[in-house]
Amino acid sequence: MEELGLHDAERLDRASLEALQLERLQWTVRHAYENVPLYRTKFDEAGVHPDDIKTLADVQRLPFTTKEDLRLNYPFGMFAVPKEDIRRIHASSGTTGRPTVVGYTQSDLDNWADLIARSLYAAGVRPGWRVHNAYGYGLFTGGLGAHAGIERLGCAVIPMSGGQTEKQVQLIMDFEPDAIMCTPSYLLTIADAFEAAGIDPRSTSLKVAVCGAEPWTDAMRKELEERLDIKAVDIYGLSEVMGPGVGNECVETQDGPHIWEDHFLPEIIDENLQQVPDGVQGELVFTTLTKEAFPVIRYRTRDLTELRPGTARPGMRRIAKITGRNDDMIILRGVNLFPTQIEEIALESPDLSTHFVLELTRKGKMDALCVKIEPREGVSDAQCIEAAKVLQHHIKSRIGTSVGVELVPCGSLERSQGKLKRVYDLREQI
Ligand code: DLL
Repeated sequence: MEELGLHDAERLDRASLEALQLERLQWTVRHAYENVPLYRTKFDEAGVHPDDIKTLADVQRLPFTTKEDLRLNYPFGMFAVPKEDIRRIHASSGTTGRPTVVGYTQSDLDNWADLIARSLYAAGVRPGWRVHNAYGYGLFTGGLGAHAGIERLGCAVIPMSGGQTEKQVQLIMDFEPDAIMCTPSYLLTIADAFEAAGIDPRSTSLKVAVCGAEPWTDAMRKELEERLDIKAVDIYGLSEVMGPGVGNECVETQDGPHIWEDHFLPEIIDENLQQVPDGVQGELVFTTLTKEAFPVIRYRTRDLTELRPGTARPGMRRIAKITGRNDDMIILRGVNLFPTQIEEIALESPDLSTHFVLELTRKGKMDALCVKIEPREGVSDAQCIEAAKVLQHHIKSRIGTSVGVELVPCGSLERSQGKLKRVYDLREQI
């Protein structure tokens, strides 16, 4: 990979890439139609046949796939290859009901490892490095997905998994990794643990963090980069489409993940489920282009973002940093609000920390939102109170809704061990 640098596909111009996408789209649509009863039924109902896919725009003729489709076909109803060809199964727990289950053939696993290797290379990781992998191992795609790609790039993987934060600190000190992979919120937990152990987090061997699996803002990136003296780079993915490595940011531009478009066809749709042009915000939708075991057609991710032209990889489009999932969106008295918006505003204050949660309650018929936030260590009471007032004011003026802000003692909020839970909906319990 070092000699090769970029993968051939990353050098393609737009027209050649789109020709490759069309060929692969036609293969995927036929493969799904012929091997997955759900797709055959849905296509027949929509009056569309694989032969109708003559251009990339024809993807819009195909029906969408949702998480509900996966749940109804639990566990293996949407696998498109015989049982003997499956080499790995992953599942994501979700918040309610059955998990969603996905499968991979050997070729799918090889493509996945290649895409993680490409992602790491884009993030500035180089062969010969040691990479500390603190994504959770097990059914979650983060740990094992990243693991194979770290090896594929020619790095040594330290398969630490999530949790056991003190041990993470010790191993980072002893094994001197060059890069770390974990969620941004867990990297903060690790930074705090360094400080608690009396070690300056800026003094470690780490040069790059490849962070994803949850929404995070550029303000959070700045915080991580300054506290740990590293480059923090965004990795995007979801299990239904593959896992981590559907797209990755390039370290030289840090301007949102490039989607690996030789393997995935992205679209953005509006509330009426119509495709919108690049540059317009909406819900991200993916069609896989090479997956054998678990092809997905127009899968609705629920992630809100927009498509932008490529920069460091000019042929491949980027997504803007994800604002949130439309199911994490809080609608407070008619105003839409995402935790990332609060994160951005809170981090403007030098007196407030990144540790906050959002609590939703209901008094009578009125919903109320309270931002519970820890000040930074060593800030005076008067400064904290002033900072809380400013936060409340900025939320009102920029998002357009009144919220409560409550200062809570340093260290009192639960720390992330992986994906951070920011929103606590207490409305049912009151
Ligand atoms: O979180 C896969 C992953 C692992 C990605 C490690 C990156 C690193 P799921 O558990 O299926 O898979 O969750 C997917 O997480 O739809 C987004 O809502 C969110 N997400 C993932 N990456 C990012 C990111 C993994 N970079 C869901 N920025 C997705 C914002 C992200 N949100």
